[in-house]
Amino acid sequence: ATEQTFIMIKPDGVQRGLIGEVISRFEKKGFYLRAMKLISVERSFAEKHYADLSSKPFFGGLVEYIVSGPVVAMVWEGKQVVSTGRKLVGATNPLAAEPGTIRGDFAVDIGRNVIHGSDSVENARKEIALWFPEGIAEWKSAQH
Ligand code: CMP
Repeated sequence: ATEQTFIMIKPDGVQRGLIGEVISRFEKKGFYLRAMKLISVERSFAEKHYADLSSKPFFGGLVEYIVSGPVVAMVWEGKQVVSTGRKLVGATNPLAAEPGTIRGDFAVDIGRNVIHGSDSVENARKEIALWFPEGIAEWKSAQH
């Protein structure tokens, strides 16, 4: 089914010049970019995004990392884009991520893993609502 997912290029990905690379991979796969913005978020916002991880020992460091610079927040749409998008992203630990995936090709550190992708349709819905409270413009012409 056609789904939407939330993809974020994290501060390390932005600083290392990987924005175009990430967008290119999702575009070439055949997904549709529906919303995108470059933003720096507050600590409280990062804590909300990662609320499910608040009890983890790495939570503080994770929040520090996400607020350390601008991120690119995106909504991608397409067939099974939630699970397929996570395949493009690769395993959370870049050392376990397969070559050919974004993390497998561009990262070595779980704490600097370049990109985030929603892990379920339900979390995608929540994350899109959190990051794009202004809503997402409809495409004027039917592209798919
Ligand atoms: P992400 O896909 O954004 O989802 C949760 C994030 O927590 C994950 O990517 C990593 O950036 C981070 N994370 C998960 N496990 C660890 C860990 N053991 N140490 C540091 N960061 C982690």
